Amino acid sequence: MDPVDDLFEFLRFPSISADSQFKSSVDDCADWLLARMQRAGLQGQKYATPGNPIVVARNERRLGRKTVLIYGHYDVQPPDPMELWESPPFEPVIKADKVIARGSTDNKGQILAHILGVESALKERGDLPVNLILLVEGEEEIGSPNLESFLKEHNVDWNADVVAISDTGMVGPGIPTFTYGLRGILCLEIRLRGPVADLHSGIFGGSVANPATILCRIVAQLHDGSGRIAIPGFYDRVLPLEQWERDLWTKLPFTEKSWLATTGSPRISGEKGYTFLEQVWARPTAEVNGIGSGYQGEGPKTIVPARATAKLSFRLVPDQDPSELKPRVEEFLKRQCPDSVEMKIIPQHSGKAYLVKPDSTFGKAAQKALVDTFGKPVAFIREGGSVPITQSFKDILGIDTLLLGLALPDCKAHSPNENFALANFHAGIRLNRKLLEQIAATG
Ligand code: BES
Ligand code: MN
Repeated sequence: MDPVDDLFEFLRFPSISADSQFKSSVDDCADWLLARMQRAGLQGQKYATPGNPIVVARNERRLGRKTVLIYGHYDVQPPDPMELWESPPFEPVIKADKVIARGSTDNKGQILAHILGVESALKERGDLPVNLILLVEGEEEIGSPNLESFLKEHNVDWNADVVAISDTGMVGPGIPTFTYGLRGILCLEIRLRGPVADLHSGIFGGSVANPATILCRIVAQLHDGSGRIAIPGFYDRVLPLEQWERDLWTKLPFTEKSWLATTGSPRISGEKGYTFLEQVWARPTAEVNGIGSGYQGEGPKTIVPARATAKLSFRLVPDQDPSELKPRVEEFLKRQCPDSVEMKIIPQHSGKAYLVKPDSTFGKAAQKALVDTFGKPVAFIREGGSVPITQSFKDILGIDTLLLGLALPDCKAHSPNENFALANFHAGIRLNRKLLEQIAATG
């Protein structure tokens, strides 16, 4: 079977973890994945969790060789807004040598490339150069709420030397990229309640607080005039950028112009004193991910809304600790809220940032595999996105993670028309083989 047909099958499952309506598709997707890993020649199992299943597959464990844990996720972000998709999100198509579908880059295409790399090595050689554990979960996009306890409960099984993840980016087409840092995250939802129901704004407006107005005021307090987060103590543990990375990053093929072209925004904004790459890769942020209140339909409607809600996320950097920041953030928000409305804060997921020295033995092995696959020198970057389980691998299993992503800057992850370049899919299959060979050669 053509690898692309496999990818299309995988992409047809709407395995959206955020929306419980898709629970059975998530489950079907896990079954498909398990069967696919078994067909590749691995021993696999699907584990139930309180949330979505986790699929684990292995080859035969042999003494005296390295063990590599490859992690990925089969869940995807919701496809909304639907009207901006040029083709339906779960009906993959190829356009200009890219596969277009939700999850194509993030993360189905990338994890499938690993599986297919393993399959081809097994077919050709009958064995892999390492012990392999493939761990693919279905809740990454909602913060991996069940993965840490799964790792802890199955402790005896995780005797790995290193983790490899392809769920990050490349700086450009054909440029091998080694990511040595990720941001962490802290998410929550604010709910404001004013009147018991929407009120006539002529009869009552002026006499009671408007939750929408108050929410906007609260959200506007999150930053000061220089784009810094105004929550007391928020920057206490932020590690400063090192000079070598600042220097390296100025040589990367990113310009303000290319960044703006990718985003479609009119100009660079954000915390003063940092370049746009530094802002994204090494500085924390506070973002409104969603905000809503009152009437959103056509035409006017004169009301004082009963409720207002906002979903917030804070991106964190080393060494910020989400459990330490959570009460500070909540206290700050509560302090901004007058008693003319009621505030509820609903905590959501969180995870730590990740930072590793790029020149470890395994790091160097991965860099050789990258050079070998792409035939060019490696770019060293951090990323603004989060894969919170990465730091948990360090904390729980005591091992480093190699972040070898294949996402291109214009892959539109989490956006309409997400795509994965076919060239990267095929490169990923080759990269997997070279990576396992290079890791084996370290021992
Ligand atoms: N693949 C991304 C993470 C990512 C994106 C890393 C871009 C580097 C560059 C991952 O699937 C993701 O989206 N993670 C979430 C984390 C979350 C919901 C806890 C994120 O970063 O928003
Ligand atoms: Mn994602």
